[in-house]
Order: sequence, then C-alpha cells, then structure tokens
Amino acid sequence: MIKRHKAFIGAQWGDEGKGKLVDESAEEAEGRRVVVRFQGGPNAGHTQFVRSQNGSLIEIVTHASPSGLAANVDIGIGPDVAFDPEQFAEELQEGKEKFDYSGRVLISERVGILLPHHRIIDGAREDRRNKQIGTTLKGIGPFYECNAQRKARLTFADYVSDRFSDKLNEIVKELQPELSAAGVNVSEYLEETLALHKPIAQQLKPFSERLEYRLQEYLSEGSITIEGGQGTELDVTLGTMPDVTSSHVIAPFAFASLGLPRDQFNVYLVEKLYPTRVGSGMMPTVAHDEFATVGEKSGEFGATTGRKRRVGYPDWVRLKRAALINDADGIYVTRADCVQGRKIKAAVGYHIGDGLTQEVPLRTEDIKSVRYTKERWQWNLWNGERDLADATAVDAALKERRAGYVNGGFESLPSGLKCYIRSKDAFVECPTVGVSIGPARGETVMRKF
Ligand code: IMP
Ligand code: MG
Repeated sequence: MIKRHKAFIGAQWGDEGKGKLVDESAEEAEGRRVVVRFQGGPNAGHTQFVRSQNGSLIEIVTHASPSGLAANVDIGIGPDVAFDPEQFAEELQEGKEKFDYSGRVLISERVGILLPHHRIIDGAREDRRNKQIGTTLKGIGPFYECNAQRKARLTFADYVSDRFSDKLNEIVKELQPELSAAGVNVSEYLEETLALHKPIAQQLKPFSERLEYRLQEYLSEGSITIEGGQGTELDVTLGTMPDVTSSHVIAPFAFASLGLPRDQFNVYLVEKLYPTRVGSGMMPTVAHDEFATVGEKSGEFGATTGRKRRVGYPDWVRLKRAALINDADGIYVTRADCVQGRKIKAAVGYHIGDGLTQEVPLRTEDIKSVRYTKERWQWNLWNGERDLADATAVDAALKERRAGYVNGGFESLPSGLKCYIRSKDAFVECPTVGVSIGPARGETVMRKF
C-alpha cells in the first residue's frame, strides 16, 4: 500500500542518489509538505539536477540542508543531526536565489551545533592515526562524541540564546587540552567563532521548534519525507565497523529520533545499481576489471570531498541485510543507465573459512572470496554511451528516450534489465518499486504491482 509519508534510506555506503528521489517525492506530495533530515551533517553531499525554465539542467549540491530546497517545500532538522549553521545559512540563501525558496524552516531546539573545533579535532585525529578512517574531515566523529559527553554539547536553543558565549567558553575549556595540542589558540578561537556565529544565530533564531510536536501537524494534515544521509553500511553500530560514520543511519532510528510512527510511513531503500565507496574500509565486490571504469564514466567523485569513489558489483547479500535491518517496504534502484552495455553479475554468498554463507559477517576481512551469480545480465536503454560526467550537458534526444520509458512503465524497459531486477527481488525478498534511468526529476520508471 502506498502511504502519504515516506522515508528514503541509503542501502550502501552513501551516494546512492537519495537526493533525487527525495526531491521527486517532495514534489509529488500533496498538502503541506516537509522534508526532514534525522542524522549526519555536512559529511553528506546530496546532488540533485533540476531543470531550469529553458530545459537545461541545473546541478545543486546540499550538505547541511534537506533536499527540499529545490522543490520549495518546508524543511526540518531533527535533533540528532550534526547541524552546521554556517553551511545551512549559505544553502538557504542559495535556495532563495536559485529557486525562490519560500518554505518554512523548522530546526529542532535540541539539535547539537557543529562548530570549527569539531573539524580541527577530526583532522588532528586522522593525522595521528596509523590506519585512517578517511573521514570527510567535517568534524562528525568529534561532534557525536561531544554530544554523548553531555557537557560539551551546545544545543540550537543555547546557540540562539544569550547563553551562547558562556556555553561556548565552557565547552572550549573542556576541550582545551586537545585543541591546544592541535595548535589552536583558544582565546583567539573563541573570539573568531563568536564573531562569525552571532549574526548567523540571530538569522536562524526564528526557526527554533519543538520539532516532535510540529511534525505531528504534518502527519495528520500534510506529508512528511524523511531523508537519510550516508548509507546503511556506514551506520555506527550496524555498518562495516570501524570504517563507518558516527551516527545511526537506519530507518528505525529516524522514527525513534523524530517521534514518528513507523506504520504511517513507507520505508524505501535507495540502491545504486553498482555500489560505490569513498574513504577507508573494504567492499567485498570491488571491481578490478573493466567494470570499474563505470566510475569515471559516471562522475563518481565524492560530492563533499572530491575523492574518487571505488566501484563494485552489486552485492545482494548485503542488500538483503539492509532491507532486513531497515524494515524496508521497497527499493529504488538508481543509475541503471550508467551500466548499460556492460555485463553484470551479483554477489549471492561469501566464502569464509571452509564454508559459504549468505549472512554478512562483522569482519569483512574474514571473507576469502565472493560467490557470484552464474548469470550475466546486460541491457541497452539507448544506443551509444552517454557521458554522465557532464550531466548538465545531457542532450535532448536522450531526454525524450527517457521520457518514453517513464511513460511506458517498467514493462517497457529492456528485457535484460527486467530480468536482472526480477532475479534481484527473488534473492533480496524486497521488491524494486522504481528504477531511475536519468539524473533529472521525473526520470524514474515506476513499477506497478
Ligand atoms: P565521517 O562521517 O566524516 O566521519 O566519515 C566516516 C566515513 O563515512 C568515511 O569513510 C567517509 O568517506 C564516509 N562518509 C561520510 N559521509 C558520507 C556520505 O555522505 N557519502 C559517502 N560516504 C560518506
Ligand atoms: Mg553523497
């Protein structure tokens, strides 16, 4: 059953294309609409392509703001986000200039504030580590540690009040040994940070809300889209530890932290047809053959850090677990166009010790080799390869071809792609509900059941 409220969660290591689907969902929803983020911070980079008046594609990347800016709907920041007010204020301004953004902004009064000292500590620690995590250096790890430490937490309510200077003073004192060791002059830091942030705090002050109450209003009268950051494999507890982010990214946590009822939502996983990963940590299906060139062809570089993303073959073993731990109702597959013309196989088991398992082990290092499907799938959506590296230059002919598939629906897709999706669904036991075949809003082929 299709519900009014939806959650979109990354199935892999982030960068699955959630931004586009969230944008489409927000655009289609009826009544008062809000897109809300529940975790993570500017370590995320959500890329969307929106068509301008003259039909050309405009690319926008948001880090701190939910992907509702372009659809001009209300946006919300949940209490467990790592909230970067400086970045957020900048994106809000950009939204106003580019899309006449006029939506309501709701920021949980409880959300913690991400400040430069978190970034400084993040960088200093990565430098010190023998084995780096390869973080985005946005201060995410130190931020969540400070939150859990309680005394070092600065809430949005503190930030927009007269308590801001005193609180920041207190926090910086608490962190002084680590900041001094990183070469920070603490009194200069305080002065500069206050000078930078006081005007931003005043600007954002009207948006402070008891979010759990306000969301109930959208629940009964409007529609809510929950937007995940990162992806399931980066969850602090259930991901590929220790190379993960520092927040809980899976759907059940969204409901817990936002005070929303699971049963009124559809939970969708967003799965990029080929998984990618930036930063350290293993990906058992990483491709070393020709398939890896999908990355360059499709512009697989981190939206936040610009780092090259590693590309892998589909991993159905992991996907099945992602569907399980997110309690997913369905899966959106993205970038089915980027792999056309290539032979595709998928992981259906791991060899560990002398055995074969279909369960994801805690230690990826224990996997000796991957068992792949015997089948190799292949499809062509149109003739000739499209250079996605420059998605803004997508030509008009392809736009029409894509519209043809969108209008024709799932059955109009090439048989190789349909067979692939059916086999995947049989293994994963969670239905594919849509297939994205192009970068722009609306270029998603929906499946009817
Ligand atoms: P952190 O979240 O900056 O601490 O980084 C921890 C790990 O998560 C690193 O491997 C990052 O590359 C990865 N990571 C964090 N955010 C994202 C994201 O939005 N997309 C992809 N990878 C991410
Ligand atoms: Mg991203």
